[in-house]
Amino acid sequence: MIPKLNILPFVSVDHMMKLVLKIGVERFLVELAGYIEDDFRRWQLFDKTPRLASHSAEGVIELMPTSDGEVYGFKYVNGHPKNMREGRQTVTAFGVLADVQNGYPVLLSEMTILTALRTAAMSALAAKHLAPVGSDCMALIGNGAQAEFQAVAFKALLGIRKLRLYDIDRTATEKCFRNLAGLGFDLVACSTAQEAVEGAHIITTVTADKQYATILTDNMVGSGVHINAVGGDCPGKTELHRDILLRSDIFVEYGPQTRIEGEIQQLAANHGVTELWQVITGSVPGRRDPGQITLFDSVGFAIEDFSALRYVRDQLTSTGLYQELDNAGRSRRTARPVWHAAACRGAAVEQGCHLTT
Ligand SMILES: NC(=O)c1ccc[n+]([C@@H]2O[C@H](COP(=O)([O-])OP(=O)(O)OC[C@H]3O[C@@H](n4cnc5c(N)ncnc54)[C@H](O)[C@@H]3O)[C@@H](O)[C@H]2O)c1
Repeated sequence: MIPKLNILPFVSVDHMMKLVLKIGVERFLVELAGYIEDDFRRWQLFDKTPRLASHSAEGVIELMPTSDGEVYGFKYVNGHPKNMREGRQTVTAFGVLADVQNGYPVLLSEMTILTALRTAAMSALAAKHLAPVGSDCMALIGNGAQAEFQAVAFKALLGIRKLRLYDIDRTATEKCFRNLAGLGFDLVACSTAQEAVEGAHIITTVTADKQYATILTDNMVGSGVHINAVGGDCPGKTELHRDILLRSDIFVEYGPQTRIEGEIQQLAANHGVTELWQVITGSVPGRRDPGQITLFDSVGFAIEDFSALRYVRDQLTSTGLYQELDNAGRSRRTARPVWHAAACRGAAVEQGCHLTT
């Protein structure tokens, strides 16, 4: 695809935003969900490990690696709550794909935006397999950075039109409402989480709190509902009351990681859960009856990031939305010595040429 062996395509934040605009956010989410679904169908091929977290007093830095035997990928992502006070983002992320045969990186991409897209695509994909048939109303609790992506993904993949928004911060709901207005939603701003879940077929919780929070209590969840729990994704950070978990059929991405990070950290280590790939491949049923409460205990897993990077890589040739980084060396037989390049550069500068890289 990229003809020069030493060139590593780099997708910056600016290029990622242009890519999403060019493709269209709904089409991007649908196609990305398709890539995730394809990779979940070939689940057994992948190396799998819970993410590797390096905690400090100020935050966490995590690595999320995987490989399908032909392509290796990883995401680097941090979480530093104090950053906001210093004018920095709480979370930044980038990812790499590499060729397993020769170890050369083949893509370097920003993943701060891409993570929000893949999280939303994953949520909607899970709901496609688990939510009640004919769902058209979703409660969206937590109206921050992820929320709008979730809303658009559920519209694109499930046809959700009615959204009931709630956030403890009224200004977050107002901003979310404004940004989603005009996109074909029927929007209601609610004053409590209880009000938000009334009449909803799907409940998405996507709040940020560094503790065992109780965004939903047991009495708020009626039979037949699908819960998409996104915000509880760290040890000591959950959103649902434990009793809800005990009434639900629980679906996870990768059990060993979700037991550490997800809602199910509140349950016994042997509590039964189903990995979503089993539903996607048809080996285990998803929703079995209309009264069942299904819960997608989302934490975000390396294979989803791998799928997202694979999707971005496949868009590069047709869009040209990347920069070229001169990253890899050529073989010793063909490469010129380093001093030769340096000498050329010196000669060019003497002749008044300015080399830019
Ligand atoms: N599962 C995944 O794959 C995945 C991926 C990305 C982010 N996340 C998680 O999603 C969550 C949301 O991320 P974000 O980037 O949107 O954060 P954000 O800080 O932009 O927004 C979070 C919102 O939650 C609200 N909130 C906090 N406590 C609340 C409560 N009790 N009731 C209602 N609203 C409440 C806040 O006011 C804020 O508006 C975070 O916890 C993040 O770690 C999960």
